[in-house]
Amino acid sequence: MQHNVLILDFGSQYTQLIARRVRELNIFCEILPYNNLPVDLTDFKAVILSGSPYSVRSNEALHPDLSEIKGKIPMLAVCYGAQYLAHFFGGEVAPSDTREYGRANLDFIADDILFKDVPQNSQVWMSHSDTIKTLPKNAVLLASTKDVKNAAYKIEGEKTYAIQFHPEVYHSTDGTQLLKNFLVNIAGVQQDFTPNAFVEETVEGLRQKIGKEKVVLALSGGVDSTVAAVLLNKAIGKNLYCIFVNNGLLRKNEFQNVLNQYNGMGLNVKGVDATERFMNALAGLEDPEKKRKAIGRVFIEVFDDEAKLIDDATFLGQGTIYPDVIESISVKGPSATIKSHHNVGGLPDFMKLKIVEPLRMLFKDEVRRVGASLGIDPELLGRHPFPGPGLAIRILGDITQEKVRLLQEVDAIFIEGLKEHGLYNKVWQAGAILLPVNSVGVMGDERTYEKVVALRAVASTDGMTADWVHLPYEFLMEISNKIINKVKGVNRVVYDISSKPPATIEWE
Ligand code: XMP
Repeated sequence: MQHNVLILDFGSQYTQLIARRVRELNIFCEILPYNNLPVDLTDFKAVILSGSPYSVRSNEALHPDLSEIKGKIPMLAVCYGAQYLAHFFGGEVAPSDTREYGRANLDFIADDILFKDVPQNSQVWMSHSDTIKTLPKNAVLLASTKDVKNAAYKIEGEKTYAIQFHPEVYHSTDGTQLLKNFLVNIAGVQQDFTPNAFVEETVEGLRQKIGKEKVVLALSGGVDSTVAAVLLNKAIGKNLYCIFVNNGLLRKNEFQNVLNQYNGMGLNVKGVDATERFMNALAGLEDPEKKRKAIGRVFIEVFDDEAKLIDDATFLGQGTIYPDVIESISVKGPSATIKSHHNVGGLPDFMKLKIVEPLRMLFKDEVRRVGASLGIDPELLGRHPFPGPGLAIRILGDITQEKVRLLQEVDAIFIEGLKEHGLYNKVWQAGAILLPVNSVGVMGDERTYEKVVALRAVASTDGMTADWVHLPYEFLMEISNKIINKVKGVNRVVYDISSKPPATIEWE
């Protein structure tokens, strides 16, 4: 078992970032809500308390039960955590009379292992409206800034440390070093969470969990389901039954190409061409939500039909990743940011399968690294995200096979162009949109009255916010010419220059 670190969440916007920083140190960690402590804490080698939007002085203050942690397990209390310890263990917290938000410098740093290799005047990020006026009982001051005297302290005789600044935020220039000092040098945690170690441990765990039973898994061609499938395949081989559904809304040649790739990887995969079922369900639908719902419904029907053909399948494999898990258990409750449309391939209750989710503790970039260590083609791992409802939400209005074919051609020219010009990996997601309008043009001596397509390319880290990418004009000119010359039925190309928010990445 890898050494495990517990991050107790008090609802800070930065909690996930703490986990990211800890994982960057090759240390495994889990985030749990402050009020949902496991009964047995023996697996945890260290605990980090997160910040919080609440004040420890208010009626809404969140009260963790630290009786099995403080003084027993090495603990680092960040921001709210530091103030909580001060307020409830003999110190004093009061509203701050100077601004304690933004960059500050540690102009006093004590000679303590927590600050090993952290230089004098190191920049830190502050974000609080309360401040610690008096340290708690038995505390020793470890660091100060010009405005914040009690920026860091420790409790004598315990491995309990507290800092009012945020080491996880990028602007805290030595934040990762500080976390390393706490976790490795103080708590003695090993940096053993590497992709290879993850693969080894996960494969063994899957074998034990699944035994001789059968697993069905829907592949999408995307990174998460592919890595999940390869891990399961390594664990149980032919007892993994993968299903790859063609909904008729994939990119040009995607169904065949991805299917070939999966076969080449030795996966037990069945390609199911259900184009007609999807097209029939979509016929005449114009409303985006109705289209999404229809696609979701038919997907489940097709998947259920196929799963029934596999005798005695008892498990459903899913490519769920950690941000989904965190959001669903967060202090604030299942977050409003999870959109129903993202759960297109979700599990229908009537299937009564047990769930197996090999990636549920990994962040997206970790999934990619695990995929690389499993030898998955880097091109597949670097693919842009593509929505479950596919081109249906990029064809505004009703869907016909002819419109799909036309958009596939346009999209292929754009995506291949991005690759040829070395731009594909600089863009987070790109695609083309078919607009429901015709415009007048002229080709040769002929008047044309044809379709308009929009191109969209965005930069993002997680799809929650996004900026449009400033693709070079020369590139856009070349692609626009190519599309209008090669794709019959299109006489105008526009480029989408909207950011998210207020726009979204997909048009529907
Ligand atoms: P929006 O359009 O909400 O998209 O800004 C954010 C990200 O999510 C993708 N997306 C989906 N992915 N099923 C998916 O698997 C869906 O129904 C879906 N809708 C949007 C979108 O492509 C972008 O990456």
